[in-house]
Amino acid sequence: MITKERAQYILDVFKSLKILVIGDVMLDHYLFGNVERISPEAPVPVVEAMSEEYRLGGAANVANNLASLNVNTYICGIVGDDQANKILSSKLKESNIENLNIISHKPTIQKTRIIASHQQLLRIDWEDKTPFSDFNKIINNTPKNIDGIIVSDYAKGTITKELTKYLVKHYDFVAADPKPAHKEFYKNMTLITPNEKEAKGMYKEEDINILGKSLKQELNLKYLAITLGPKGVAFFEDSAVHTYKSVAREVYDVTGAGDTFIATIVASLLAGAKTFEACDLANIAAGIVVSKIGSATTNYQEILENVSNC
Ligand SMILES: Nc1ncnc2c1ncn2[C@@H]1O[C@H](COP(=O)(O)OP(=O)(O)OP(=O)(O)O)[C@@H](O)[C@H]1O
Ligand SMILES: [Mg+2]
Repeated sequence: MITKERAQYILDVFKSLKILVIGDVMLDHYLFGNVERISPEAPVPVVEAMSEEYRLGGAANVANNLASLNVNTYICGIVGDDQANKILSSKLKESNIENLNIISHKPTIQKTRIIASHQQLLRIDWEDKTPFSDFNKIINNTPKNIDGIIVSDYAKGTITKELTKYLVKHYDFVAADPKPAHKEFYKNMTLITPNEKEAKGMYKEEDINILGKSLKQELNLKYLAITLGPKGVAFFEDSAVHTYKSVAREVYDVTGAGDTFIATIVASLLAGAKTFEACDLANIAAGIVVSKIGSATTNYQEILENVSNC
């Protein structure tokens, strides 16, 4: 297990790192209210709105996680010329994230969730999943002097095979949170971080150890991290596998655990952490996030406090 001294040393290096997130940026919109009656117009509940909130979602949530760990963070995704992009841009600015998003004819991806008495009643999505063919625009927006890239692929059209091929050719460190249907996009990457279900979607094998070794070899990855929810992570490097346990926590909000995990493991590896240290820090960070209500990020102080508790 990582020591507090090493954790502090590694986390201190984060502020000198420059990491770019490329992927499907989204704006999460929440409407909170109460239901007291059924509508006279149709057999549906009437929600009396009490408050609303916007949060950075998808690739923008990965960027938000990096920024809250003091990493110099850049984001590049596809947005629309619309109100959602105005809100997204101001949230990125608030979080100190360098905004390299490309304005296109597609709408900014937005998910509106209507929540009454802690219950989600409805979700409304604005999105256009057609692949973004003009991948040169993304490449031209990609700074040269960065330490690493995180590809955040939600299969909404930003990530294409041509793009990932270019990235692995021109950058030393490219990691991805993958979508099984895009398996061949991740060839020759430094690291991918599927969860167990996604890993099984990429390689038909029940035994995680055999699966991981085969998938890592097939895609020619340097590292493969299969996240196992409350059980932590199975980490494959060279021809070995190690399982690093997380401190299982009561889950309040599991969404975003994967985003926190990849942000922390990538920053840690780029900061010079040994692989077991990077896995420990990523497990700790993601564990903090699942146990929180309302916030999808963690920070230096919270991680350090949890290292000593291990
Ligand atoms: N209940 C839990 N207790 C402690 N840590 C957890 C728990 N659930 C998830 N984690 C941490 O989060 C990491 C990622 O979780 P998981 O494997 O569920 O990813 P995921 O399915 O990609 O998540 P997401 O819903 O964000 O996409 C785990 O490796 C672990 O470190
Ligand atoms: Mg995930």
